[in-house]
Amino acid sequence: MLSLTSVEAMSNSADSPAHNSETIEIRTPSLTDGADLWRIAEGTGVLDVNTPYAYLLWARDFAETSVIATVDGEAAGFISGYLKPTDPSTLFIWQVAVDSRFRGRRLASRVLAQVVANSGAGRLETTITSDNAASIALFTGLARDHGTEITKQDLFTEDLFPPQEESGEHHAAEDLYTVEPLKR
Ligand SMILES: CC(C)(COP(=O)(O)OP(=O)(O)OC[C@H]1O[C@@H](n2cnc3c(N)ncnc32)[C@H](O)[C@@H]1OP(=O)(O)O)[C@@H](O)C(=O)NCCC(=O)NCCS
Repeated sequence: MLSLTSVEAMSNSADSPAHNSETIEIRTPSLTDGADLWRIAEGTGVLDVNTPYAYLLWARDFAETSVIATVDGEAAGFISGYLKPTDPSTLFIWQVAVDSRFRGRRLASRVLAQVVANSGAGRLETTITSDNAASIALFTGLARDHGTEITKQDLFTEDLFPPQEESGEHHAAEDLYTVEPLKR
């Protein structure tokens, strides 16, 4: 049986800035979290925001490979992912978001560690645009924690995206990052 939930009081250490009175819960999402996943994604102002329906679907059908973090009961961040149908030992991370009020406190790192542990995957894939230093650092940190490397290759190049209606510009290229092997 997987341990899908962790609840802890934020500790006062170099790794976790002091917020001693807070309770952080990291758990799999349920249907009633779907709206919060959408709200957090929208609030980042940088993610491709999907429909509220998509987040409800994710909270129902991909809950075991996704996590939501709450701080004192308030939705603070999430990760959505799935096991690749063609290779179930690979966890693909779709979106990672932490509400701006809770960033820089290793919340994303802890949420990522939890979803990786829950998934039992031996390999992780995600895509990142070249301007997203925080996301690149997040996944590089995961590789470091697992004593392994992160590699990068082309995947969704600009030309694969449709031009945006107003500007005519294309979405930035999403490079494929792979972390393997993951410790289980
Ligand atoms: C990416 C994001 C989830 C990181 O959340 P976070 O909780 O602040 O991240 P953490 O505190 O766990 O930090 C993880 C790593 O990123 C680094 N980092 C965090 N913010 C950073 C920034 N703005 N620039 C560069 N590095 C950054 C940290 O130093 C840490 O690296 P380290 O382990 O080498 O010290 C958050 O910035 C976010 O929601 N951004 C908007 C949405 C997004 O871009 N999502 C990713 C694409 S799907």
